[in-house]
Amino acid sequence: MEKMWSGRFKQSAASLLDDFNASIMFDRRLYREDIEGSLAHAAMLKEQGILSAEELKAIQEGMAQVLEEIESNVFEWKIGDEDLHMAIEKRLTAIIGEAGGKLHTARSRNDQVAVDFRRYVLRKNLEIAGLLKEVTEVIVAIAKEHTTTLLPGMTHLQHAQPINFGFHLLAYASMFKRDIERFVDSRRRNNISPLGCAALAGTPHNIDRRMTAAALGFDAPSVNCLDTVSDRDFALEILFNISTMMMHVSRLAEELILWSSYEFGFVELSDEYSTGSSIMPQKKNPDVPELLRGKTGRVNGNLIALLTVMKGLPLAYNKDTQEDKEGVFDSVDTAELSLNILREALRTMAIKPHNMEKACKKGHLSATDLADYLVKQCNIPFRTAHFITGNAVARAEELGIDLSEITYTELQQVDERIGEDVMPLLALEHSMNARRSEGGTATERTQEQVAYFENYLTGLSL
Ligand code: ARG
Repeated sequence: MEKMWSGRFKQSAASLLDDFNASIMFDRRLYREDIEGSLAHAAMLKEQGILSAEELKAIQEGMAQVLEEIESNVFEWKIGDEDLHMAIEKRLTAIIGEAGGKLHTARSRNDQVAVDFRRYVLRKNLEIAGLLKEVTEVIVAIAKEHTTTLLPGMTHLQHAQPINFGFHLLAYASMFKRDIERFVDSRRRNNISPLGCAALAGTPHNIDRRMTAAALGFDAPSVNCLDTVSDRDFALEILFNISTMMMHVSRLAEELILWSSYEFGFVELSDEYSTGSSIMPQKKNPDVPELLRGKTGRVNGNLIALLTVMKGLPLAYNKDTQEDKEGVFDSVDTAELSLNILREALRTMAIKPHNMEKACKKGHLSATDLADYLVKQCNIPFRTAHFITGNAVARAEELGIDLSEITYTELQQVDERIGEDVMPLLALEHSMNARRSEGGTATERTQEQVAYFENYLTGLSL
């Protein structure tokens, strides 16, 4: 096939090269950004007297047709055209003739791809933040209903202290809030226009970069062209944002898997979002959270892949950077799919407060409360109090009960300094509500946190 740059070449490119060199099969998803970029560029060229009004009109009309052809699926994407930039320009020129050939004045594919890809990534930062917002809304709504639902708080996956289920969920709201902020921040930081950087050094044509930057929604033109045509930090940032977000998702997914097991029985995923086993008829498998956990692997891979592509690249544009797109597309698709299904799985799952509460009666969750009582009421050094409490726990174990169920008589035998006023303190609910320090689990504190996140989410405009 005749290449647009074939002027100095004697032989046509081997088809093996086409397969290897082309990006058209994946970069075609940037067609909107590419057409919008071209239209902004053309309008500016006309304003600067580089294109005539008729030429601009022809380009606008031709591009409208190209867009229509792409969206109605009649556009022919040919691997021999190498990338979407050339495919679109070629088609435009076929439709409108010579004016199409003038569009690339004062522009290079290097700034063109940087514009297209950057705008795609910036938009995706906001769209993913929007999905995260929806997931967080569901989490906060569930948390609001469960600020008194007792749950064993764990460290080392061992029962530690009683908390409430709402408090536990709000830990994830905190993670997702940070994720949202990261996506929004990346968009803000990278919202500068590469258009007009041309191949690497700018252009001798009298262009107006501010005009195209404004038309395309950028805050300003970039400062240094050499950097801009080879900079892929924006792509790395979204990959990192997605990896970190998916790491959080995988932690929640892991808990959903544990919680929906017989051993825990804290939640039950709805039938809609569970799967069966092909051999064991009784099974209901948590495939959704398992896949959410598993997909963290591929997004991490995409991040490392692009970091590795960029490492050691000399300035400015190198074809290596064409490898930036597939990983980003894959991570973006994975993030969107994952957040959509996570939101629905959470929204539809059944919560089993009774089992959570029952689990709190294992592991002597109020042991710290007894020790704290000995310190506060009996002026016993914490180390000694720790030891005495250990004895009380051992006694409860002997009796086959939880410390929260021990009688006062038994406690007296452990240490006679223990007063009867300790008894209400050992109740699990009391233990949870005693943790009233700022950010703590007490119902009242959890309700404050619910309000905090509700407030944050309502004020969040993306
Ligand atoms: N397909 C290329 C990419 O994705 C576009 C830029 C090509 N520029 C060039 N000078 N070969 O990076």
